[in-house]
Amino acid sequence: MLADRVSHIKPAPTLALTAKVNQLKARGEDIIGFGAGEPDFDTPNFIKEACIRALKEGKTKYAPSAGILPLREAISEKLLRENHVEYSPSEIVVTAGAKMALFLVMMATLQEGDEVLLPSPYWVTYPEQILLCGAKVVEVPLKEEEGFLLRAESLKSYITPRTKMLILNSPSNPTGAVVPEEEQRKIAELCVERNILLVSDECYEAFLYDGETFVSPASFSKEVREITFTVNAFSKSYSMTGWRVGYVACPQRYAKVLADLNSQSISNATTFAQYGALEALKNPLSKEFVESMRKAFQERREVAYGLLREVPHLSVVKPKGAFYIFPNLRHYSDRLGSDLKLADYLIEQGKVAVVPGSAFGAQGYVRLSYCLPEDAIREGIRRLKEALLRLEGV
Ligand SMILES: Cc1ncc(COP(=O)(O)O)c(C=O)c1O
Repeated sequence: MLADRVSHIKPAPTLALTAKVNQLKARGEDIIGFGAGEPDFDTPNFIKEACIRALKEGKTKYAPSAGILPLREAISEKLLRENHVEYSPSEIVVTAGAKMALFLVMMATLQEGDEVLLPSPYWVTYPEQILLCGAKVVEVPLKEEEGFLLRAESLKSYITPRTKMLILNSPSNPTGAVVPEEEQRKIAELCVERNILLVSDECYEAFLYDGETFVSPASFSKEVREITFTVNAFSKSYSMTGWRVGYVACPQRYAKVLADLNSQSISNATTFAQYGALEALKNPLSKEFVESMRKAFQERREVAYGLLREVPHLSVVKPKGAFYIFPNLRHYSDRLGSDLKLADYLIEQGKVAVVPGSAFGAQGYVRLSYCLPEDAIREGIRRLKEALLRLEGV
């Protein structure tokens, strides 16, 4: 007796893969897992201590549905200082991770029949949430030859009178592509012109390489800020994925509704976890921690990219941000019939776990997360190469 709205729903394939890898490991199998979408660093102690302190002080009760005021104030200061956009605390809603922030935004704005522009490859959860809200996914294909970069010009032909929203995720999961500021400006202006809401998912803000700099579209102009939902989380930047604290910043008329949705669903993001998040923003040690992670990922990216380039019949775009790499393995997946079968083959026969590209709307690709130590990356790609070459009869 399930509702129609959940008839299509699938579990997040990335979480499912992590569960499978853990299961195999528990059985004693030696698997190298490139599936996890989370940093392999522990949450810094000073953040944990702040949360423990909050627990001991009795911060164990309901909190305001928009989030505790000191955290919203700290987010407001961070957005001004680092992202050059002014949001008052009343324009910020703390959520149970960025995933929930995105879901609330879609629940609050999408109607049956609305169309959402989704650049593809996309992060797995976007289409599921769009469909759950009764709207239609309009994929905007991005080309590997163009570094998977979204361009304002290529968006135009996908806009119809029903287009309600565009989802922008730069740096991108799964490609690691970073849309240059100039192009982001054109995209944002197009959204203003055509009256399209812009959702900017900034979860990978902290992970940029090769001197790339981060930019928040809401900082471009008053007009862009009016149509933009700035979504972010503590999950990736501070290695706090399990804490479930994220936020959305947007004009107050929207923020009020998002807080109401929070209050009628989860009440509030976990109270004491919010004190940990507050410490992440306030403690000067955070900067050092984030930079050490960024540097480690930059080095690992070099290793992964260099080794993948040595695999015959494989092409790969060098990621400029996030912590994923998205090689094209069509040559091999065609032999087995699909990238899903290829991923199964790699885990069973190669003892290496990758996420099939079709989960991200890109058949023939696979996603590797380089959130693991360098020697594991080396060994994992060695196994990958060997298993692929076995398909060639080499
Ligand atoms: C692009 C993107 N947005 C949002 C999220 C969700 O983040 P959170 O764990 O804060 O819900 C993820 C997590 O993988 C992601 O990759």
